[in-house]
Amino acid sequence: MMIGDSKKKAAEAAIAEVTDDMLVGLGTGSTAAFAIAGLGRRIREEGLRITAAGTSLATEAAARAAGIPVLAFDDLAAVDLCIDGADEIDPAFRAIKGGGGAMLREKIVASAARRMICIVDASKQVPQLIRPLPIEVLPFAHAFVAREIRALGGEPVARPTLSDQHNLLIDCDFGPIGDPQALARILDMIPGLLGHGLFLSEIDTIYVGDEAGVERHE
Ligand code: 5RP
Repeated sequence: MMIGDSKKKAAEAAIAEVTDDMLVGLGTGSTAAFAIAGLGRRIREEGLRITAAGTSLATEAAARAAGIPVLAFDDLAAVDLCIDGADEIDPAFRAIKGGGGAMLREKIVASAARRMICIVDASKQVPQLIRPLPIEVLPFAHAFVAREIRALGGEPVARPTLSDQHNLLIDCDFGPIGDPQALARILDMIPGLLGHGLFLSEIDTIYVGDEAGVERHE
């Protein structure tokens, strides 16, 4: 079975939690894309009445193309539910996000959400967060932020692409992250580092898809 099938199972299970009149924050990436397609289908087939806000320009465009009414997040202080993927998630629901470079908007929408559902295939579950951590950096600050990352024991590698806000995206390899809270606290204090992919308290529920089916954890 393909990983895409597992992603789709997780996404389909999660969108069953969406009900009429909800304002839904839509995540970015291939798993979130299954949720967007599924919500579009429910609007067409069941007459589901929702509005949505996207966590990236690509997601806004995909949601509109799927027939989902999309509001600009700028004017919204809260959303009812956020559904988004992750790159890694540990048993304490701590995740690394930002593989798609959207973690700054994703964290804002997740923080504005009354509830966040994370949808993953089983390969994303890890005992300890380890993959390179994406950060978004103001171009003006890039050399300074890279120095700070190295001082923390990280190895920064810039991506060739910019974020939706036209900032730099840098993957920082810290090896296994023993204390994600401590790392997040330090990163949050570096001027010019606008966002990072450590999601430590946002996620309330996860759906994990695999060959056997889908599991919900809360
Ligand atoms: C984008 C993200 C995605 O949720 C993450 O990269 C997972 O992507 P996919 O669902 O394609 O595996 O954080 O910034």
